[in-house]
Amino acid sequence: MTDDLQTLKREEAEFFNQSAAVRMKDGRVAIEADMRRATRRLPEGPGEGLIDPEMTRIVDDGHTARFLDLAAHQPGGRVLDVCCGMGWLSLELARRGQFVDAYDISPGAIAVGRQMLAENPYKDGFGGVTYNLQDVTEVDLGVERYDAVIGNSAFHHINDLPAFMDRVTAALKPGGIIVTVDDMPVGEKERALERLLRLALPTFDRTYRQKAVDVFKRLVGITKAPPEIFTPMEQGKHDSVFEIADIWHKRYEVLEESFRGAFSLGPSMTVKGPHVFRYGVARVIVALDRFCCSRRLTKGYLRVMVGRKPLTPR
Ligand SMILES: C[S@@+](CC[C@H](N)C(=O)[O-])C[C@H]1O[C@@H](n2cnc3c(N)ncnc32)[C@H](O)[C@@H]1O
Repeated sequence: MTDDLQTLKREEAEFFNQSAAVRMKDGRVAIEADMRRATRRLPEGPGEGLIDPEMTRIVDDGHTARFLDLAAHQPGGRVLDVCCGMGWLSLELARRGQFVDAYDISPGAIAVGRQMLAENPYKDGFGGVTYNLQDVTEVDLGVERYDAVIGNSAFHHINDLPAFMDRVTAALKPGGIIVTVDDMPVGEKERALERLLRLALPTFDRTYRQKAVDVFKRLVGITKAPPEIFTPMEQGKHDSVFEIADIWHKRYEVLEESFRGAFSLGPSMTVKGPHVFRYGVARVIVALDRFCCSRRLTKGYLRVMVGRKPLTPR
């Protein structure tokens, strides 16, 4: 590995150490650590994200359960979780009787995963998880070892994806399932709709007065739109998300390629007010978003790709 790549990976690990620390601050449990034990925490300051299982459930619209069902297609199966983060999906798969090998380079994220596993109260039918603090591109993944492979916002963090996917494909059993969820480039129309909703709705991040000042500054050219935030390994991800699709089509039978969440995700997670109001607004804009994506009026931010390894090599 070159020195530059090593530095990039160290910075990536540090980025996710900090994100784990913020999300788990003061004894909180984030959704992406354990979705069943997460408790509601509203943002108290700038940069603090929302933790709200009910809001996540509304915005998620049943997709995570479907993702997990696809990955757990083989009872008692063995699953590889690529770039597992704090490990919520691995934990849920183990709760569905799966045996999961989970890898991440962030010590902070892996420590949370191990802690959640130790504290897990849902032991009925539990399979198992091993949280490994390791660069997944350097692991011997074996041959036909896994019934399923999952990567949630994961594969676009890998630098030499074709080489890595050679090894992932070899590690998947014939007929095995591989699922990826990736965030896509946001189009102008979708960005405008999201901004409009964030301006119109009461939100945690800014008062209406601050919003008015921001709009004025933008209109007279004093400020520009804030840039999209990338993690160190994500730089240029917009090319690699297309590369992921190419690889899926070349190597697997593609069972699904779908898009969702064009403009409702951000506004739902920031809308402020009584819970009944927040959840009501989120339900309406998620339904509108679903409708627009299904009619191809807008393009979803989240792309789900499900592949099956052919029984005979292509
Ligand atoms: C956007 S997060 C997604 C985490 C997780 N899949 C989830 O659903 O919460 C991307 C993760 O990739 C990890 N990562 C990046 N490069 C990696 C590598 N080469 N090997 C293992 N993990 C890596 C980061 O540390 C980070 O936790």
